[in-house]
Amino acid sequence: MALYSEKVMDHFRNPRNVGVIENADGVGEVGNAKCGDIMKIYLKIENDVIVDVKFETFGCGSAIASSSMATEMIKGKPISEALGLTNKAVTEALDGLPAQKIHCSVLAEEAVKSAVKDYYDKNGIIYDCKLFHDCATCEHCHH
Ligand code: FES
Repeated sequence: MALYSEKVMDHFRNPRNVGVIENADGVGEVGNAKCGDIMKIYLKIENDVIVDVKFETFGCGSAIASSSMATEMIKGKPISEALGLTNKAVTEALDGLPAQKIHCSVLAEEAVKSAVKDYYDKNGIIYDCKLFHDCATCEHCHH
């Protein structure tokens, strides 16, 4: 079996939604300290719907394919669906990733969430912090 699925190769070679959105409503940037990869996601939001999304990823092929697929999966969708996007769903949509590359799809999930959080923060929208982190390990919240 090939290491990478056709879909991974396709999204790596022809990534969708690459670029920057000027005046984005939400921007999320995450990195993985171990591999050094960085992913940035820009959202344009209207009436709770992600009307446009772009990404810049400085990283491996799987990270690029994961961000490309993640942007395709949330484009035109309500924010709630973007928040529900899991790295597992991204990996499945790519027809799988090698085990040592699963963390690349985690980065995509985190980047989307962090962009939504940025949008919420900028607009003073109240949210449940459980959406964005593990409260059990957070010293600021008392859940
Ligand atoms: Fe770390 Fe791909 S190797 S995100």
